[in-house]
Amino acid sequence: MNKSSFSRRDFLRLLGLGSGAVAFNSLISACQPFLQNAPIVPISTHLPPSIAVTSAPHAPLEFSLRAIQGEVSILPGAPTRVWQYQPTLISGEASALQTLPGSYLGPILHAWRGQTIRARLENEISEPTILHWHGLRIPEQADGHPRYAINTGETYDYEFPVLNRAGTYWIHPHPHQRTGAQAYYWMACLFIVHDDEEQAAGLPDGEFDVPLIIQDRMFDTQNQLVYLASMMDSMTGFLGNVVLVNGQPNFILPVAARPYRLRLLNGSNARVYKLAYSDNTPLTVIATDGGLLAAPLQRNYVTLAPGERIELWIDFSRVGAGGTVKLVSLEFASGSGGMMGGGMSAGVPQGIPFDVMTFSVERDSADRPTLPPVLSAPNFYNAESAVNRNAPRRFEFAMQGMVGTINGMQFGMDDVTDYETVKLGDLEFWEFANVAGGGMGMGMMGGMAQPHPVHVHGVQFKIISRQIDRAYRNEYSTLSDGFVDDGWKDTVLVLPGETVQVLVRFEDYAGLYLYHCHNLEHEDGGMMRNYKVVS
Ligand code: C2O
Ligand code: CU
Ligand code: CU
Repeated sequence: MNKSSFSRRDFLRLLGLGSGAVAFNSLISACQPFLQNAPIVPISTHLPPSIAVTSAPHAPLEFSLRAIQGEVSILPGAPTRVWQYQPTLISGEASALQTLPGSYLGPILHAWRGQTIRARLENEISEPTILHWHGLRIPEQADGHPRYAINTGETYDYEFPVLNRAGTYWIHPHPHQRTGAQAYYWMACLFIVHDDEEQAAGLPDGEFDVPLIIQDRMFDTQNQLVYLASMMDSMTGFLGNVVLVNGQPNFILPVAARPYRLRLLNGSNARVYKLAYSDNTPLTVIATDGGLLAAPLQRNYVTLAPGERIELWIDFSRVGAGGTVKLVSLEFASGSGGMMGGGMSAGVPQGIPFDVMTFSVERDSADRPTLPPVLSAPNFYNAESAVNRNAPRRFEFAMQGMVGTINGMQFGMDDVTDYETVKLGDLEFWEFANVAGGGMGMGMMGGMAQPHPVHVHGVQFKIISRQIDRAYRNEYSTLSDGFVDDGWKDTVLVLPGETVQVLVRFEDYAGLYLYHCHNLEHEDGGMMRNYKVVS
């Protein structure tokens, strides 16, 4: 069975959706990009120093997260066993801890830039775990490296100042070879940072600032989660057959006919989404992984890989009370990942179109806050001061047979080479290459062509350029117009045959940190390495 024989009807049937078929083909042809030869984006220029981003002092935020086994109602019928983070606020404003109604997902934490965070993880599940703060500039002891994993019954204390800009960061488990499983069976918490610069932008807030955590899952006939149903899942990464938003299938968000701020997290283990609105309206993007863009920009669709976040501005007055608009994922070419996944596993292959969720405009509103033309001063790095301007540090991500490697190596708990050692304070060019062996994306044991969302712990970086191998250009062009490289990032999707250059400064702490593919099955399979910052 190959990709083309798996029709969208099959997929909708799997999803339990019969109707709502969107005119995907017209959408796709409308936004088919024209890709030039190996485009190189010019080096970003140094922006003027950021406007004051110091925030009024906030008292420390203290909370505990109990990792527990629980039961929640996700599908009609029997409850589903999950693992959860159960939060308790110890000190801080009550508004710092928000829960998602009816969701098995963890709380949403709100912190301020400059605030001290004190958190205690209590492990009450049946295996070791540790908690990682994805996207945060954080001391190594607080970063959730698997060597800090704690056993059942133990606790781990975190303390750090929030150095990051306002933005949508997140928390997930990071134990050795069990990140994929533990993230799958429960837990994603958003960790939202605010600052004065963001407040000055005057974006919709409170109930008009909505988190949307997108994940795919698979359930058995008893409503229990199914993980790694086939061998192939370890190579392609887990691909489910039901899309959940904030932990719910067929998610419908009731909204008012006014502007909203949407914070999207792709909390899936391996699935890439090509997000668009069902009415063909372009998406207005206001932020990426590391916070607000300099100014809003528009995309016909947005490509969102596992681990990545994107924030959107949307004015539902264009839909009007009584109307609905869907968030959909469009079709894209997915190389061997889709074909193999489709052939060997019950999961829906990458690149098949489907509905993600529905916005239902249920009431009128007279509120018309306008979209700010200037959002922030991101204050990107000056490429001129990089220590390796002409010799980027290069990391090759490759599938070698069944396993993923970085520069030919796999993860080892304390393994780090000289090549993976950088100096505290240095600004460097790093280069991530997705070396898809075997040609045609179907090298089998020569290595499958797989998307690799590359993530670096402890830093935010700026994407400088992307280059695509001629052999992969057509496939690439079905996703590349959806990249948003204009803001701060901690995770970047590197497609088969692609090389991405980023500028990154190791400015905060010395220590041992991780970089890895955020396809969680690739990560658990060893496509992860340490890097070391020395002072
Ligand atoms: Cu979300 Cu090691 O990462
Ligand atoms: Cu991370
Ligand atoms: Cu990968």
